[in-house]
Amino acid sequence: MNSKKTEWTAKWIRPKEPMGDACPVFSKTWQQEKTPESAVLYLTSLGVYVACINGNRVGDYVLAPGWTVYEKRLQYQEYDVTGLIREGENEIQITLGKGWYASPMPGWVEKEKQRKKERKTGILGELILSADGASNGRVIATDQTWKVSQGPVRFSEIYDGESFDATFVSDKEEEVCEFSWPIETLIPQQGEQIREMERVCAREIIHTPAGEWVVDFGQNITGYVEFTVDAHEGEQIKILHGEILGKDGNFYNENYRSAKAEINYVCREGKQTWHPRLTFFGFRYLKLAEFPEEPKAEQFTAIAVYSDMKRTGFIRTAHEGINQLFSNVLWGQKGNFLDVPTDCPQRDERLGWTGDAQTFTKVASYNFDVERFFRKWLRDLAADQLESGSVPQVVPNFLPDCRESAAWGDAATVCPWQMYMTYGNTSDLAEQFESMKKWVDFITQSTTTKCLWTGGEHFGDWLGLDSPPGSYRGASREDFIATAFYAHSTHLVVKAGRALGRDMSGYEELFQEIRKAFQKEYPEYLTQTEHVIAVWFELTEDSQKTADALAEMIVKDGTQIRTGFVGTPYILHVLSNYGHTDLAYTLLLREKYPSWLYPISKGATTIWEHWDGIMADGSLWSSDMNSFNHYSYGSVADWLYEEAAGIKPVEEAPGFAKARITPRPDKRLGWIDVSLSTRHGQIRSAWRYVGDSVRFEITTPVESEIVIGDRRETVMPGTYTYWG
Ligand code: BGC
Repeated sequence: MNSKKTEWTAKWIRPKEPMGDACPVFSKTWQQEKTPESAVLYLTSLGVYVACINGNRVGDYVLAPGWTVYEKRLQYQEYDVTGLIREGENEIQITLGKGWYASPMPGWVEKEKQRKKERKTGILGELILSADGASNGRVIATDQTWKVSQGPVRFSEIYDGESFDATFVSDKEEEVCEFSWPIETLIPQQGEQIREMERVCAREIIHTPAGEWVVDFGQNITGYVEFTVDAHEGEQIKILHGEILGKDGNFYNENYRSAKAEINYVCREGKQTWHPRLTFFGFRYLKLAEFPEEPKAEQFTAIAVYSDMKRTGFIRTAHEGINQLFSNVLWGQKGNFLDVPTDCPQRDERLGWTGDAQTFTKVASYNFDVERFFRKWLRDLAADQLESGSVPQVVPNFLPDCRESAAWGDAATVCPWQMYMTYGNTSDLAEQFESMKKWVDFITQSTTTKCLWTGGEHFGDWLGLDSPPGSYRGASREDFIATAFYAHSTHLVVKAGRALGRDMSGYEELFQEIRKAFQKEYPEYLTQTEHVIAVWFELTEDSQKTADALAEMIVKDGTQIRTGFVGTPYILHVLSNYGHTDLAYTLLLREKYPSWLYPISKGATTIWEHWDGIMADGSLWSSDMNSFNHYSYGSVADWLYEEAAGIKPVEEAPGFAKARITPRPDKRLGWIDVSLSTRHGQIRSAWRYVGDSVRFEITTPVESEIVIGDRRETVMPGTYTYWG
């Protein structure tokens, strides 16, 4: 990481007179006697910026400076722009959109209330030009000598989209004014940069029964469309975004709720190619509400924009449905890891819901290298944590009233611990340790019953299939879940403290007391989720008995899952760890609703928020809560890594310094081939049925314990084959 720049000669600037919806373009020209030896631009904004020098784009960071708890931590970027500076006159131009900072977020709060807290955007930048032979170099810094004018971006907001007028010519330069914003809050880029990562060509143009032109990309993505059109000056383009087609085959996006997710474009004369630059959308389909000609697929490319994470996990199997499921999990992560782990990328939320991140953190860390991504977000979580230790439901916190919920606030402990397990970085764990403890202390201090977490308002087993009519919260008892997570978080604090060499006897005692109180208060378990977390968090007196009871309950329930956000991530793990691997596979491979594969039978290319977002008869779950890109249930893929292929970290040797490899084959899957790039090299575990026998092939770069059936052995780095 670059060292922090503490001295700034630049001043924060914004337009002196408000410009309404139009995005301001700040500019400065200067004379350069010779080209400099080096030129470095430091830049940040309240809002999102695109910078150009002499008409050339600076860097490839999309939606810079990213999304943090701006009031406390605002990233600036550093660009080497030596190649962009020339002899003679130079010009720097910076276009500024509202971005996350100033868009009316969250979108479901009434516009009136939003207006009251309207936030003004601005920029701060410094271009440092080294000696050019003729001068000693100089600094071009934002200050009141800069000019500002309206640009062709006439409107840009996170939820509502972008309007661009390609015919717009600014006829007026206006004054800027300086304003203050604490320099101490500035930090160098900490997360991964957001980039244009993939391009997806349009698959086909559909002429719907309602007579609409709809572009289908065949994949639900997050980003924006690039289109090319040959048009006359003044012709209009209006594009709407959607994730699915309705039952009737027509365009549908009521599930975006108040987010307009619209592109409005005024053409100039001739052939032109354009895409938005200051916002993003979640979409598979585009409705061309206005378009100057009959559209052709080759005119449209979807550009997937997400944090530049390196892919580390690969899973292939003989089962096409499972392969598609894994692809959906990956696309769910790409689409929702746009600087902050969000619930969804399309409707009027797109927020860093802590509970969603908590459920998905393990699989996220296997699929991609997310160490930097989570490092940044967890620093934001700590920054937004209240003095009391309470963790807001979303980070960065944008909700009108700050409240906490069990299984959501626990992101404070679960995510840092998972990062430590996957990457083994002690300093990141140490950074988060205070925040982890504060969360547990908060529960201890705020609960109404000692050692149980009672009271408070929780989301329960969110979207559990056993939810009582009219509720989203599952049938599991909220105090049960809250106490179980209280115990789990306390346990994680104990483990983290020990890993850091601290005396954890106080928290260890607390964990044991919560466990005892839990057992006394909850002698029986009423739902699938209650069984699952009692076992997985080591709270039940007899784990085997509880896991067996869970298996029985699942069969009684029709051999199907009834769990929501809380129980789903662990249900298959509990089954396979207690002798019910067969049932775990039955649930995994089930194709009828409710199941992970059911959405695939309906054409899903990302993970759905609801098990039945589209019902068997094609009708839709209510539009007020029906995202088709909500990664939480995609956590199931961590079972494929850890149980089906059996690749697991070892607590005493985090970051895969050692590994346990315990593959669990099943004939119905046929074969699996999984590889995981770790800090210590690539681990591969594959098995394949040959008749009734299974051939296992394992490659490990570290000392590993391999368990296959009853055989257990410790091996050194190498490749091993077994028959079972
Ligand atoms: C979000 C969820 C989130 C939940 C909290 C929803 O609106 O989309 O994924 O965790 O609220 O209950």
